[in-house]
Amino acid sequence: MKIAIGCDHGALEHKNAIAAHLTERGFEVEDFGIYEMQSVDYPDIAAPVCDSIVSGKNELGILVCGTGIGMSIAANKIKGIRAAACSEHFSAKYTRLHNNSNVLCLGGRVIGVGTAIELADIFVDTSFEGDRHQRRIDKITALENR
Ligand code: RB5
Repeated sequence: MKIAIGCDHGALEHKNAIAAHLTERGFEVEDFGIYEMQSVDYPDIAAPVCDSIVSGKNELGILVCGTGIGMSIAANKIKGIRAAACSEHFSAKYTRLHNNSNVLCLGGRVIGVGTAIELADIFVDTSFEGDRHQRRIDKITALENR
């Protein structure tokens, strides 16, 4: 599975740790930066990560900022993206099972690196359940096209 990842200055350590962990696990990780500590605007990172998912280049994305919220708001503006800001295990699992989320957003100032790695693992290891949930996703898609 190909995974896109990116962060702003609020979560460089988290992004690097998640990228290294997923690479170690055998995933192909495309890192959209940042690569060194510098102040950036999170929509500028969310956009290329999400574009790579919509285009089919990558299957899932992980975006990390200070809270995970800015990244999720930006990502959800992009057609075809369902981004979820999560800080605990249950949400990371069910947003894949029920929402078919394709982007996980994490807060580097909210959770530690260890929890971030665990949530990333859950996210990439869980598949959409489909069935009645697909009907709801279709309604979200209809909202995008309204
Ligand atoms: C940057 O200081 C911070 O605002 C950003 O990382 C994020 O938390 C926004 O939601």
